[in-house]
Amino acid sequence: MSKHLFSTILGAVATVFAVNAASAQPADIEPKVQVCSACHGANGMPLDPKTMPIIWGQTEYYIFKQLLDYRTGARENPIMSGIAKTLQQQDLRPIGKYFAAKTWPAKQAAANNPAPPKMENCMICHQAHLEGGQPAPRLAGLSYEYLIAQMNAFANDTRTNNGDMPAIMKALSAGEREAIARYAAGL
Ligand code: HEC
Ligand code: HEC
Repeated sequence: MSKHLFSTILGAVATVFAVNAASAQPADIEPKVQVCSACHGANGMPLDPKTMPIIWGQTEYYIFKQLLDYRTGARENPIMSGIAKTLQQQDLRPIGKYFAAKTWPAKQAAANNPAPPKMENCMICHQAHLEGGQPAPRLAGLSYEYLIAQMNAFANDTRTNNGDMPAIMKALSAGEREAIARYAAGL
């Protein structure tokens, strides 16, 4: 099975879960998300923002899908794959909702330069100011180091849990990716 077909199927599975969960009562997930703050931060600022993304205020569907992808292996990371597998499937959607409802932490990076070339392409999906929206995540304010690592991972096929992002990243030069990551980090 091709990776793209695989991710399409996973996307369909995710949609089914989304529909099923919509009518369910929100579980009491507070105790289940205690562990997350050890790395993602008790106030929304991660312990090491260079490697650990901000999840407070990230888009709901995106958080849910990443947890699902880490569980299935569609996205791999030595830390998060293990953590996601300890969660229960029915809790993933409430966890997405829980963190999405929190406030994105105050801006850390210095103010910005003019938008680099090809930035407008990103806003088609990542929305104005790269603040995210279904199904694309917020990029604004994630660290430069985290952003460039994920952008390069899409470009070199080590992150393959989306059908569009690898081609979009391959179409940019390394320098263009760096300029965009630096810009997004400062938004
Ligand atoms: C031991 C540290 C640690 C703990 C605990 C932890 N995470 Fe993570 N998390 C990470 C790291 C590191 C990454 C980046 C992984 C990668 O590069 O794929 C990450 C990535 C994520 C992402 C992807 C975000 C994005 O922008 O792509 C989500 C969602 C997430 N974690 C949710 C959670 C939740 C929910 C919990 C608690 C149930 C949790 N994490 C606990 C370290 C941790
Ligand atoms: C066709 C829509 C689309 C376009 C255009 C697009 N993206 Fe994305 N991007 C997505 C989606 C959807 C995801 C979430 C993928 C997943 O499920 O893991 C994503 C994920 C990402 C991530 C991972 C974020 C994280 O928290 O790990 C980065 C970084 C990113 N995109 C950067 C960019 C940049 C930079 C551009 C412009 C050059 C761009 N994208 C253009 C749809 C798009």
